Amino acid sequence: MRALYEALPYPSRDPADERQRLITGSPSQLDEVNHYVFAGRLDLARPFRALVAGGGTGDAAIMLAQQLADRAPQGEVVYLDMSRASRAVAEARAKERALRNIRFVEGSLLDVAQIAPGPFDYIDCCGVLHHLPDPAQGLAALAAVLKPGGGMGLMLYATLGRTGVYPVQEALRQLVPEGDMPARVAATRSLVDMLPETNWLKRNPHLSSVTDDDAALADLLLHPIDRAFRVREVAALVQGAGLTLIHFLPPLRYDPFTYLPDPALRARAAALSWIDAAGLAEALAGNLKTHVFYVVKDKAREAALAVPHARSIPVLIRQDAATLSRAFARKPRLGANLDGIALDLAVGERAAILLGAMDGQRDLSALRHETGLAPPVFDAAFATLYHVLNGLNLMLLREAA
Ligand SMILES: C[S@@+](CC[C@H](N)C(=O)[O-])C[C@H]1O[C@@H](n2cnc3c(N)ncnc32)[C@H](O)[C@@H]1O
Repeated sequence: MRALYEALPYPSRDPADERQRLITGSPSQLDEVNHYVFAGRLDLARPFRALVAGGGTGDAAIMLAQQLADRAPQGEVVYLDMSRASRAVAEARAKERALRNIRFVEGSLLDVAQIAPGPFDYIDCCGVLHHLPDPAQGLAALAAVLKPGGGMGLMLYATLGRTGVYPVQEALRQLVPEGDMPARVAATRSLVDMLPETNWLKRNPHLSSVTDDDAALADLLLHPIDRAFRVREVAALVQGAGLTLIHFLPPLRYDPFTYLPDPALRARAAALSWIDAAGLAEALAGNLKTHVFYVVKDKAREAALAVPHARSIPVLIRQDAATLSRAFARKPRLGANLDGIALDLAVGERAAILLGAMDGQRDLSALRHETGLAPPVFDAAFATLYHVLNGLNLMLLREAA
């Protein structure tokens, strides 16, 4: 596996692009970490140490380090990876941004207790554990350097959306010998191009786009070790490491109600535990390629996850409140496409008013005063809007320090 990432650091990134944009995403966006690990109460004036385990070409480390540089004077990121080529890309990106709050460590996350002992408030580990011979051993090694009360954001491959990947991997093991990586990638491309229309990889429209990029193609099909997880398998892995599962993202994709208009079926789904409901949603949707989720150590789910209350400050990510407010004033609905599932969601008649008053500073109590709505009317309107915007991972909660 080391050979794969030395030859083709993944995902491929050009450090010069840092001058134009910051790549952000889930997990590990700082507002998201605050919402799903610290119930919105993270105090960034205090020291905050994060580990990015299997940091690759640096997406999460650069995002976190930049957000900490902007907001947390005592924030530090430790980047750990065993691929020197990947580290070189990540380091060049950090240099381009003049970030001084990242420490680069080379080695295996299985040795983290020796080479980067922490302890850490937060750990990011995306797209890594499913490539280890024993993912549970990897998660246990990370859990050991996590502070009590701290959390992790993880990404693991999801079984159903990767339909078609594993039979082609099997064929490639029979047809494409080990060795020279460019030759293997060329042979893989040739095989993929000649697959019949009936092949499940060919039929999976959400995977075909990656085949244009060599590093993505190798990542998809040439891994010596690669497994995928169902929701219940994620839950078992997390529980096995003594950690508590908080939430999968974005929440609406893991909500069976998203896919069940029938009232009788909805009533049955409503009786399920949250984790069984998430597993049902996965089975109904059939298109989840990855699971992005948060876990915590030595903390109950209720103590980690932010829920709306009078002192919650709604924070919009990837969207601007004023723009959304204007759009909802014209039509109080939000369209979304979840990898082929088109949704048209009602945000409530008062969505425009609520968003018009949101400035990332006012809490719900102040927003209610500002909008002049009666408490029950405000609460119902916010609940409807929050269900949609939080559900699509566009709105999070924090509390004032
Ligand atoms: C698919 S890439 C993901 C990179 C990054 N986390 C991201 O999401 O963009 C997997 C990375 O994990 C690294 N890796 C795999 N096994 C590792 C291990 N045992 N210890 C440290 N890094 C590892 C690889 O070198 C590679 O850079």
